[in-house]
Amino acid sequence: MAARSGLAAGPIIPETVTADLHHLSEAVISIDNLLHNLACIREITGSTHRIMGIVKANAYGHGAPEVTAALESAGVRDFGVANVHEAIELRQAHRLQGDSRLLAFAAPLPQHIGLYLEHGVEMTLCDLASIESASAIAAAGGGMLRVQVKVDTGMGRLGVSPADAAALLDAVDRAPNLELAGIYTHFAEGHDANGFTAIQLERFLAVTGEYERKTGRRVLKHAASSGAIVSKPSAHLDMVRPGILLYGCHPVDSNPTPLPVKPVMQFQSTVIFVKEVPEGATVSYNRTWAAPGPRRIATVAAGYADGFHRALTNRAKVSIGGRTFDQIGTVTMDQIMVDLGEDRTVQPGDTAVLFGWDGPSAGQQALAAGTISYELLCSVSRRVPRLFRNGSPRS
Ligand SMILES: Cc1ncc(COP(=O)(O)O)c(C=O)c1O
Repeated sequence: MAARSGLAAGPIIPETVTADLHHLSEAVISIDNLLHNLACIREITGSTHRIMGIVKANAYGHGAPEVTAALESAGVRDFGVANVHEAIELRQAHRLQGDSRLLAFAAPLPQHIGLYLEHGVEMTLCDLASIESASAIAAAGGGMLRVQVKVDTGMGRLGVSPADAAALLDAVDRAPNLELAGIYTHFAEGHDANGFTAIQLERFLAVTGEYERKTGRRVLKHAASSGAIVSKPSAHLDMVRPGILLYGCHPVDSNPTPLPVKPVMQFQSTVIFVKEVPEGATVSYNRTWAAPGPRRIATVAAGYADGFHRALTNRAKVSIGGRTFDQIGTVTMDQIMVDLGEDRTVQPGDTAVLFGWDGPSAGQQALAAGTISYELLCSVSRRVPRLFRNGSPRS
């Protein structure tokens, strides 16, 4: 301690107030595992097949600029985002390779069409009304706007109906400032190769087949996201659009695909307090858990504001020091509690893995919470810093 002689007695100030800037909660992102997952996808599509990396929602919570850069380093040149605003944010945070393309999936509002031109983003076209505005805006700007026509073959979310698709495609070809960059659709249950996926694919190929026959031109066609990439090779077409598989989870958590993908995110926090409680002591809001006997309880510094869903209350597992424990009591905004049983090894400062390679998977936690891994990944909040790692995540 520095000499304090001459100072009036006061609070003791630690000498090393800035010694440890590590955050209590963090999301460690393994670039190695991301590239491994890309290689797994290429194993089944063929190494030269075009892949659109889906980096919407900040790359499912992993960090869109860093994920995009890593995928580019492995040769990916197509990227999908939710809307033009995400595309602009990505372009501002990361200088894309000159030949990389960005497609925004949302249907455009007229007031946003200029942004696509200005920022070089491919636009999803779903109706004739958008063609008129898009063409006029592109003409006024003296530029060509690249568009992809979305066909709603049964997802019921966005797109032109198969019955109206030919007229829309015709109008795109007649619009002098629009260039057709592709035609695509999206499956409602792509993990199931037969049934409705087969019907959707048939509807889609009828539209694209008619267009290609009529014009004598080939056009980029794509349909498969993670589910159909694995379940339905005939839907791979000219390009596939993986999201969740790239991030090391599966489209259906209760029925994982055989692909040996690895988690890309480890969501972890820190034990900040350990105490002993007697039998019958209750823990957290609404007293949903009572100790069945004398227990050691750890308090961990992550709660629902960090992305640990409240629906996980009394359902999740947490790994500390390689051992798995039950999360107990209502999940609070900033902390959760963990039943250590009679364990005497866990101490304040220990790392607690909420999901990732050293703990339960996001898929297992999602099943416990009654949701899907997609939602858990996207929920890891802004106050949790992302730490990017090359090399083995354990090194
Ligand atoms: C249009 C579109 N394509 C591809 C994907 C990627 O889906 P997944 O994460 O299941 O691979 C999504 C995700 O919702 C999407 O909306």
